Amino acid sequence: MVDRNGRGRSRNHPVLTGSPRSPPASFVEQANVTDPEIYETFEAQWPECWERAADRLSWDEAYDTVLEDEDAPFYRWFTGGRLNAAYNCIDRHLESGRKTHTAIRWEGKHGERRTYTYRDLYVAVNEVAAALRDLGVEEDDVVTIYLPMIPELPIAMLACARIGAPHSVVFAGLSADALATRMDAADSEYLLTCDGYYRRGDAFNQKSKADNALLKLEQDVQAVVVDRLGDDLPHVLGDGEYDYHELRETFSGATVDPVSRDAEDMLFLMYTSGTTGEPKGVVHTTGGYLAHAAWTSHAVLDVKPEDTYWCAADIGWITGHSYIVYGPLALGTTTVMYEGTPDYPDRDRLWEIADRNAVDIFYTAPTAIRAFMKWGPEYPDRHDLSSLRLLGSVGEPISPRPWNWYYEHVGREACPIVDTWWQTETGAVTVSTLPAIDDMKPGAAGPGLPGIDVRVVDEAGEPVEPGESGYLTIARPWPGMARTLYDGDDRYLEEYWNRFSDPEADDWRYFSGDAARIDDDGYLTVLGRVDDVMNVSGRRLSTTEIESAITDVAGVAETAVVGRSNGTGDTEVVAYVSTEGGHDDENAVREAVVDSVESAIGPFARPSRILFTPELPKTRSGKIMRRLLEDVANGEELGDTSALRNPEIVGEIQAEIRDD
Ligand code: PRX
Repeated sequence: MVDRNGRGRSRNHPVLTGSPRSPPASFVEQANVTDPEIYETFEAQWPECWERAADRLSWDEAYDTVLEDEDAPFYRWFTGGRLNAAYNCIDRHLESGRKTHTAIRWEGKHGERRTYTYRDLYVAVNEVAAALRDLGVEEDDVVTIYLPMIPELPIAMLACARIGAPHSVVFAGLSADALATRMDAADSEYLLTCDGYYRRGDAFNQKSKADNALLKLEQDVQAVVVDRLGDDLPHVLGDGEYDYHELRETFSGATVDPVSRDAEDMLFLMYTSGTTGEPKGVVHTTGGYLAHAAWTSHAVLDVKPEDTYWCAADIGWITGHSYIVYGPLALGTTTVMYEGTPDYPDRDRLWEIADRNAVDIFYTAPTAIRAFMKWGPEYPDRHDLSSLRLLGSVGEPISPRPWNWYYEHVGREACPIVDTWWQTETGAVTVSTLPAIDDMKPGAAGPGLPGIDVRVVDEAGEPVEPGESGYLTIARPWPGMARTLYDGDDRYLEEYWNRFSDPEADDWRYFSGDAARIDDDGYLTVLGRVDDVMNVSGRRLSTTEIESAITDVAGVAETAVVGRSNGTGDTEVVAYVSTEGGHDDENAVREAVVDSVESAIGPFARPSRILFTPELPKTRSGKIMRRLLEDVANGEELGDTSALRNPEIVGEIQAEIRDD
């Protein structure tokens, strides 16, 4: 069993998979991809098979080579080709007579609604692109976007793409410090943000967070501010700050030619948690990424131009980039964007939106599905969900019970479910069933997609037997893969490639950081992270990053952060803290720890339990035994503790957790 350092093992993973189900016939009849030979065809034609993905795009100049691997693992896809992502997501749909087709349907938190046709999107994106250019944004300048789920967010992304400026979207819930770190790392001199947004009914000030971030930066930054809250939160613009709506007014009717980008030019940067405290700037390219996002939207999510498609994720993370913005818009469909939460004003909010918009495809995360299940079937039952054709799940393992619940109560046993495994670094889906071809196994994501060579291996990199678990690796490149880290090629090699590759033999293996089990049919059951990354309700957090925020607190001597399953399948952050001598006001330290984590990362990373202990359990060489701490937090049987330097501490910690 895989257990490196004992970190990040998911305790929510399905131990068993449920009985297989075949794709519903009504779905198969109309599906985009139905040829079961597709796996063999991709295998036989690899890497040219990926031309199918590239063919879903419009190229300014055709590529000469599908894959260049001379400089592996720095792979290059569709080289020589040129294209523009905004052109692919907007202009070409106007040219094919679909101007009045709805591109974005936005559902606001308080019942506001906005609809953008492809023509409306074209106008908005052009005006914002013209305004950004006027501010001085040039090709390859990184523009940071710090916006909540409002239409101005995808508009800003596409405006950047139009002028060839890579965007770096920072999730709106991240803190001022986190924004500053990301802008600093990317040397970004432009920011799009807003005055604030509504959170649980209250006006929440986003601009003050952005202001605080800018104060920390050395570079001068020009900021564009969207007025989202009007009189609910008046704000003042300072030097170098511009009102978004005024800029649009100034550039009303302006058009900007889409900049033709090399296939390998950066489309965007996405910061994500890694195994060290520093977030990683994952670099995605224009050709390969867009081709992979569009192809998987077509083949896995079965998106068609006439669909109303809804991915209920946040655009601030990769799922929203690939499956709210780039994939669906490249295919010319209607993408739904929702600002609020699933339980406001009531627990049927999502089903009300799905019903009213006759949504065809719905894609969400297991943490949401578990909440729906807890709330009960009466909420989906209140609505007509018969328009739904396919359901998707992403972000963490889904066990058979919530899977079956989703299948019965949301999908009415008529919709296939795709359990899609992928990562910020893979760009788009890499493991999933093909919904009209493969049987579904509740609790197992599926096989590698055609052309994706997924291998579950042991410590030595050898494939494990079916039924066994091992490390989830990918043996061949794929178009949507990250090309490098903005922080440098060395870190890219270190984080993903060094562990299982044999450079002398030119044998390159991508290591995902996940463990998985593989069955006789090649289906993977993903078991969770085996590195210092935690998956908390589908969000990626670095234990090191949380630990370093806690260690910043005066009085804290040492800390270890682990994940704990809270009984409903979600993981919570548990922090063990030992204080320096003389600091015995635990409540003050507790508060300071929460504040420090919130200001370093954001409220969602806050530990749900902080346990004080005189010492942390350590090996004789002084290493903190996190595996043991994780077992203690989860109330598990403890193994042999004789290797510890201070075994007596374990009993004390167990007593502490019981009393807490
Ligand atoms: O642990 C895996 C989990 O989410 C991690 C990637 O997180 P992030 O880069 O934030 O991207 C999330 C959305 C693509 C993976 O390393 N994960 C993602 N999808 C699944 C999953 N775990 C199990 N099953 C999935 N379907």
